[in-house]
Amino acid sequence: MPHSATSKQAGTATLSYDGKSASLPVLTGSLGPACVDVRKLQGELGVFTFDPSYGATASCESAITYIDGDAGILLYRGYPIEQLAEKSTFLEVAYLLLFGNLPNKAELGVFTNGVTRHTMLHEQIRRFWDGFRRDAHPMAMLCSVVGAMSAFYPDSIDTQDPRQREISAYRMIAKIPTITAWAHKYNAGQPFVYPRNDLNYSENFLHMFHAVPAEPYEQNPILTRAMDRILILHADHEQNASTSTVRLAGSTGANPFACIAAGIASLWGPAHGGANEAVLKMLAEIGHKDNIPAFIEQVKDKNSHVKLMGFGHRVYKNFDPRAKIMQQTCYEVLGALGIKDEPMLDLAMELERIALEDEYFVSRKLYPNVDFYSGIILKAMGFPTTMFTPIFALARTVGWISQWMEMIEDPQQRIGRPRQIYTGAAARDYTPIDQRG
Ligand code: CMC
Repeated sequence: MPHSATSKQAGTATLSYDGKSASLPVLTGSLGPACVDVRKLQGELGVFTFDPSYGATASCESAITYIDGDAGILLYRGYPIEQLAEKSTFLEVAYLLLFGNLPNKAELGVFTNGVTRHTMLHEQIRRFWDGFRRDAHPMAMLCSVVGAMSAFYPDSIDTQDPRQREISAYRMIAKIPTITAWAHKYNAGQPFVYPRNDLNYSENFLHMFHAVPAEPYEQNPILTRAMDRILILHADHEQNASTSTVRLAGSTGANPFACIAAGIASLWGPAHGGANEAVLKMLAEIGHKDNIPAFIEQVKDKNSHVKLMGFGHRVYKNFDPRAKIMQQTCYEVLGALGIKDEPMLDLAMELERIALEDEYFVSRKLYPNVDFYSGIILKAMGFPTTMFTPIFALARTVGWISQWMEMIEDPQQRIGRPRQIYTGAAARDYTPIDQRG
């Protein structure tokens, strides 16, 4: 797994403060804006940088994913997401993200075989589910079961051993569909369905998710292709909140399963991966096109704390390219299922149309993101709303593990440890309790 080519110095920036001045290198990568390297700032000027929520901070060098938020461009290892979504399979994309290049036939064969051979879970893990409530949110189950994997696979948690890192990557990518499908089966009160290695990645997931022992499960090629595409679109997205969480946890030397569990926890929030579930709840609450104007007014009222879910993005200030492909996939899936009239889709499209004409959204450059249409597709494919975010986690697992690998192999890697502006009390002496007012 290649480590990223390092950035180059393109110039220097000078920062002066308190009579002193620091000359800071300005670094450039292969694409994207230049970055001021502030690592020596504290030594030279005695100050830190302040950037809560990291809106202006590059936290690492990475050669995996590139986003141009103004142009609406997303590249995995240089390949446009549109081309990968149209032409590639999820496992090809997984290989690309992990190893840096598209595989040839032989390489893909070896990789697919490796993933396929790891799809079963240690049988003892089954017993974990007995401990959960029947109505447990599947993200809660995913988080705990993935975290517990380090207890079941201790032979691949030495982060300094490249072979063990690779085995844990295979294990994560192979087992996460099984864990995700079983979380649903537990909720549904249906028997767990074991993986089938004669099926491809998406077919196997759909089989474990939807099949029941009582009758054969028939795959619909348009739906398996749509599943693959949904996984491709969610596979990686550079240093988003959950990926940064995985990297931060991994920077301490924590084992990969613990790091991915941390990523799953971070993804769960409605501002991040939980948005796909929140979009459907929002559409259900709006209920009818006639209610859209009142809803939009509510969104625009800061005091309401209501957001238009599936809209807006920290990096995209233009159309999220994934949203366009999702919309197209939505039509394909509804067509394949013979759904001619989907009120949720009509409502979503009208909501999008009204929002894109509204000054509030236009001036803030708020566009539909990947989650705006994904929920409608997943619902049509028979996934319960609570499973939307777990499916995002399933797809993002390959991104998390690729970024984790890259970080471990980065010679610049040190424990992640931000500083703060302290605003609390200055040093003061302890007062005995009977002397306190
Ligand atoms: N609805 C209404 N107003 C919004 C929205 C929205 N969805 N998103 C941003 N704004 C407003 C925000 O209130 C702020 O207004 P003002 O300048 O008047 O204070 C302005 O737009 C800038 O937004 P921000 O909060 O500074 O943007 P951010 O980068 O901190 O947040 C975001 C990005 C994705 C968390 C946010 O847009 C949001 O909450 N969207 C809805 C949730 C969502 O769809 N999340 C999925 C993201 S894509 C999938 C993923 O990768 O996770």
